[in-house]
Amino acid sequence: MSTSKKIVIANWKMNPDNVAEAKDIFNGIKIGIKGCNKVQTVICPPSIYLSVLSTNYKLQTTNLFLGAQDICHDKKGHHTGEISAEMVANVGAKYVILGHSERREQGETSAQIARKINNAFDAGLRPVLCIGEKSRDEHGFFLKYIEEQLMESLDKVTRKRIPEIAFVYEPVWAISAYGDRPATPEEANEMAIYILKLLTGKIGLKEVKNIQILYGGSVDAENCKSYLEQASIRGLLVGSASLDSKQFSEIVKTANSL
Ligand code: PGA
Repeated sequence: MSTSKKIVIANWKMNPDNVAEAKDIFNGIKIGIKGCNKVQTVICPPSIYLSVLSTNYKLQTTNLFLGAQDICHDKKGHHTGEISAEMVANVGAKYVILGHSERREQGETSAQIARKINNAFDAGLRPVLCIGEKSRDEHGFFLKYIEEQLMESLDKVTRKRIPEIAFVYEPVWAISAYGDRPATPEEANEMAIYILKLLTGKIGLKEVKNIQILYGGSVDAENCKSYLEQASIRGLLVGSASLDSKQFSEIVKTANSL
């Protein structure tokens, strides 16, 4: 499922409140991004809407895909409230966001994320792995934090599978709900290069060539171009702005035009 196309991912988080609204936003995006074939657009609604969106909009023939916002670290078993990778794949989703800072904050560990990545692959889903520091420090300790997050999340993931993962650099301090400001395009690009360097150390230069690093954190229709113009940024993860079908479509159109 790895692609040379740019990827723009909508993370709806715990929105909207009802299925009618979910259909409205989804339909608005579907119409708004018509013809944007150079971009892979992925909508990640709350899992409860995946089935109805997938059935209503028959997505197989388009560049629009569905994804989940999380899956369970186990494939089966006694996990009240959880959803398995297989269930997500069976309702037609193709992607899953893993390691989002809001899940990590709820207690998700890097060891669990490593298992989730493997479960996603086994079910035929493409994992979207989020990493990012909570804050920065002048000594650069946050770089070590990123390295640990990345390496622990990839523990037990085979070398062959790693290039298929879409990686997102999403610093917590830049997320619109908590942040003071978005990362600058240069900061985002520097971190994408740093992540690629860490991955090169793990799997080698040749394998790293096709890896896609996305940026997330307060992306909107105004600033999206400045990130996408950076040499090492190959896509975006969009939160708040993805609930506005017009604005999100503008972001996809911008990605398609570059
Ligand atoms: P934001 O959210 O675009 O609202 O900052 C991004 C995210 O948390 O994935």
